Amino acid sequence: MTAPAVAAFRGQFRRTPDLAVSAPGRVNLLGEHTDYNGGPVLPMAISRRTTVAAARADDWRFASGEEPGAITVDVHAELRRDWTDYVTGVVRELQAIGAAPDGAHLTISSTVPIGAGLSSSAALTVAAARALSALAGRRLDGRALAEIAYRAEHDQVGVRCGRMDQTIASLARPRHALLFETASGEITEVPMPGRVLVVETGRSHRLTGGELNARRSECEAALAALRARWPELNALCALPAASLGEAERLLPDALFRRVRHLVTETARTRRAAVALRAGDLAALGELLVAGQRSLATDFESSIPEADLIVDSAVRHGAYGARLTGAGWGGAVLVLTPEAEGRVVIRGIRRDFAAAFGRRPVAWTTRAAGGVRRERV
Ligand code: GLA
Repeated sequence: MTAPAVAAFRGQFRRTPDLAVSAPGRVNLLGEHTDYNGGPVLPMAISRRTTVAAARADDWRFASGEEPGAITVDVHAELRRDWTDYVTGVVRELQAIGAAPDGAHLTISSTVPIGAGLSSSAALTVAAARALSALAGRRLDGRALAEIAYRAEHDQVGVRCGRMDQTIASLARPRHALLFETASGEITEVPMPGRVLVVETGRSHRLTGGELNARRSECEAALAALRARWPELNALCALPAASLGEAERLLPDALFRRVRHLVTETARTRRAAVALRAGDLAALGELLVAGQRSLATDFESSIPEADLIVDSAVRHGAYGARLTGAGWGGAVLVLTPEAEGRVVIRGIRRDFAAAFGRRPVAWTTRAAGGVRRERV
């Protein structure tokens, strides 16, 4: 994993990097769009990682394995509107806390697919935050790295995301998912010993703006409207399920459905953590399918490819499946009994090809660990 980033660094800059750091992508088992609404999320890191190889320098030059040549970046100028913005965002946020080097050369290489809803951007920002702060001689803990990475994406790049992706990329533990209560900041490890299947819809969704920002505005509008009735309500996920009937009368239909998704998803996510802790994968699977239905009908962030993969997975023997990540494209996570994996994947491939005329990319992963130093 490290080798390509280090080899790219040597090829690009004609020297050995001072260090290399990698951070994982993630799948979210349950808790979609709850992280910017004060609710819980249940992500796990995947085995696909992004590696940053870096060395101290007098200027800032960034190179990606995907493109030839290094880009010289003025980190104080306007953002370039490409992948370097994520690294520049990290540099600026580290500078704000006095934890950035004076300059750096870095190369990145990644096995996290981009635009597949698997959080390639958080893998990059978290790895860059750890690498660059280490070059400055600073050792930031996992929460601090997640916060720098979050601000880079949210405040600098302008994606109105929550904190789930950066938190799991930073703090993940092998063979565990994390139950992250975003309102309190409490994080609990939940054992996740098995494999999950990831099926890419092949529809790419890049998050720089677009639907996620639009949904967030809808959530803010819904919260403002509900606070006229419940002034103490400080986040949509805190609305009691028993108040949904009244909320329906107060809100336009689309906003009500967004709220209903968040309230039911909050309950599902906490129940999912209980099911996982009990090793009850069948119960977890049912929650995944209920979550998918809620995404499709209430949050309206699913796409036909994902709906088909979920239906097909269940028909061929999966415990459950669900579009993971922001949506409007991306990947479906499928939970199957260990012995049924092959049958399920073959069935999905067949059904998907019949409907969309192509075979989806699919692979399995275990819950992996968070950001770490790699050998150079
Ligand atoms: C994106 C965001 C996350 C989260 C999910 C939806 O991945 O980066 O913070 O909001 O969408 O659950």
